[in-house]
Amino acid sequence: MTDTSLLLPMRTGEIRIHDAEGFEGMRKAGRLVAECLDMLVPEVKPGVTTEHLDTLVREFVMDHGATSATIGYRGYRHASCISLNHVICHGIPSAKPLKEGDIANIDVTLIIDGWHGDHSRMYGVGNVKRKAERLMDITYDALMAGIAQIRPGKRFGDIGGAISEIARLNRMSVVEDFCGHGLGRLFHDEPNVVHSADYNTGPELKPGMFFTVEPMLNLGRKDAAILPDGWTAVTRDRQLSAQYEHSVGVTEDGVEIFTTSPKGWHQPHKVQL
Ligand code: MF3
Ligand code: CO
Ligand code: CO
Repeated sequence: MTDTSLLLPMRTGEIRIHDAEGFEGMRKAGRLVAECLDMLVPEVKPGVTTEHLDTLVREFVMDHGATSATIGYRGYRHASCISLNHVICHGIPSAKPLKEGDIANIDVTLIIDGWHGDHSRMYGVGNVKRKAERLMDITYDALMAGIAQIRPGKRFGDIGGAISEIARLNRMSVVEDFCGHGLGRLFHDEPNVVHSADYNTGPELKPGMFFTVEPMLNLGRKDAAILPDGWTAVTRDRQLSAQYEHSVGVTEDGVEIFTTSPKGWHQPHKVQL
């Protein structure tokens, strides 16, 4: 018996082009994951454990008829990655409480109607130091400058070119060990979106391409190490790292961001409740 609804497309090595139905699917998935990260804004405060935040994410995803893309992914067991301070990405939720001054990236990927929404933002715990705030601000600017490059005829390297330029001007480094990625019905599809790329390099951007842009910027050196848990990526020099991620689609004349915050809480650390 062949039920095509259960078949996932294969990775072909080519960058997939999606149609109007794909845009509709990604809009719904992107909006839901953005609502999930909005929901967390008032929850991130001193004393709260990252395990508790992960539970809130898991419940939100289930309550909205979606599933977590990360639970069961290569043995990962949580609905979010929560990366504190010098953790670059793939931080595992734990029983350790947040403390005043921490900075946290919360990254959630969910699936609804077969489409993936992948999105992360930086949250400040109480009052954060100026240099941490500056890192979060510049990382957000780098993400948005990368996305501003996207339109048909431009190339993938233009995204990384703009990101690296902003990092360099601010004397920060761009992590090279992790990339953005194509997504849609697949979580990680072609191509790799390299954040440290040069302008005018890489494949051409075409309408219907879906991918993430998710730059990680460090206050110190770019070098990463993986902790013995096999997941947690940290800066080798243990200086602070920040990341923001959007899921986007290339349109006929520009770009559509699928993961825009309905509440306008793009940068949670700036929100005054
Ligand atoms: N959401 C991450 C990304 O942006 C991937 C996390 S995979 C996990 O691609 F297994 F660590 F959750
Ligand atoms: Co991603
Ligand atoms: Co992600």
